[in-house]
Amino acid sequence: MAGKESAMVAAMATINPSYAKLQAGYLFPEVGKRVRAFAAAHPSARIIRLGIGDVVLPLPPPIVEALKAAAEEMGHRETFRGYDDRGRGYDFLIEPIVAHLRSQGAEVAEDEVFVSDGSKCDTANIQEIFAVDNVVAVTDPVYPVYVDTNVMAGRTGAMAADGRYGKLVYLPTTAENGFDPALPGGRVDLIYLCSPNNPTGAVMSRVALEKWVAYAREHGSIILFDAAYEAFISEPDYPHTIFAIPGARQVAIEFRSFSKTAGFTGTRCAYTVIPKELCARDASGAEVALHGLWHRRHTTKFNGVSYPVQRAAAAVFSPAGSQAVHANLDYYMENARIIRAGLAGAGYRVYGGVNAPYIWLKLPAGVGSWQFFDRLLAEAHVVGTPGAGFGACGEGYLRLSAFGFRENIEEAVERIKTKLPG
Ligand code: MLT
Repeated sequence: MAGKESAMVAAMATINPSYAKLQAGYLFPEVGKRVRAFAAAHPSARIIRLGIGDVVLPLPPPIVEALKAAAEEMGHRETFRGYDDRGRGYDFLIEPIVAHLRSQGAEVAEDEVFVSDGSKCDTANIQEIFAVDNVVAVTDPVYPVYVDTNVMAGRTGAMAADGRYGKLVYLPTTAENGFDPALPGGRVDLIYLCSPNNPTGAVMSRVALEKWVAYAREHGSIILFDAAYEAFISEPDYPHTIFAIPGARQVAIEFRSFSKTAGFTGTRCAYTVIPKELCARDASGAEVALHGLWHRRHTTKFNGVSYPVQRAAAAVFSPAGSQAVHANLDYYMENARIIRAGLAGAGYRVYGGVNAPYIWLKLPAGVGSWQFFDRLLAEAHVVGTPGAGFGACGEGYLRLSAFGFRENIEEAVERIKTKLPG
């Protein structure tokens, strides 16, 4: 009825035409849709979900206590808080964030940190301060948010038959190149890098990061560095922050999150670091500091993360909070080890899972990733994420997440070994 009525109106608002270029639904809802359909048709199947990287362990007690205490404060006139008036985070949270970054080799000032409700939104929203004709490079496979949001922003052409969008520069990141993508052939303006990587689980070495920083400095490019999984790095010598690389402050923005690190996927807290000397050019060719632009954007469009959530995030850095959070990280990384060892034993080639909570499984030759996803669901009742959903170079792979309860991880591995040996 509503459709009929609207068809009779002569003039009408028009949509953002870039949305029409988005060919399919966002990856994880599409996975969810297939899983729901399977579950509805097979109500007795006990499905184990290792698809979307969502944490399962509850928030540790020191964090819950901080959340409760702050909620209690909100109920009293003397301690009630309204807006976070700076909008970019309270000092009680920013100070330990900066101390943590410094302990990892990043020289960062307190006013360079912007607290937000998620890195997913920050990695997308940051584009708003860049011109629409900037050329964007992404790795392939890639966290789909970087691509889809650039499509929405009008920074790409149409999608081609191989699923790639025009104007985007794709950097193949495969087992063949050791998951260390080559530098772009020409110059690009913006480069999304994610380390430890979602989806491959690979981590960038210091040498690799130095290569990118040198490229960005030479070409006037900006690196958008997603470090959401840095806390999962278990091997020494891998940088946890791009700001541990000399010269990175002039060319990089870093995104960090409490989601996977501290179990905040449902609590929501993250932060973005923008050095004050980082610049890009305006239309007249003059250099403009991005820090000021982001500050303007952030404080205009966002009123800050809630006070109780910021208190909870600050508790992540307390001795008890940090210890509990690390116990959870160890739990997930033991899951990753079990998946890796089990599937390697079953004849699969496996990547990742050592410095990241994702295992990147190479599928038998000729098996498509959505085809394997469907078989895995139908025969083993296990949910993964098809590699093709992350880009053309993800075809032939499947991602398994280590975020699960131990007994489910062990059972999933056994089921895969029995039903779908490599
Ligand atoms: C993933 O599974 O790739 C992540 O959970 C998605 C996200 O962090 O938005």
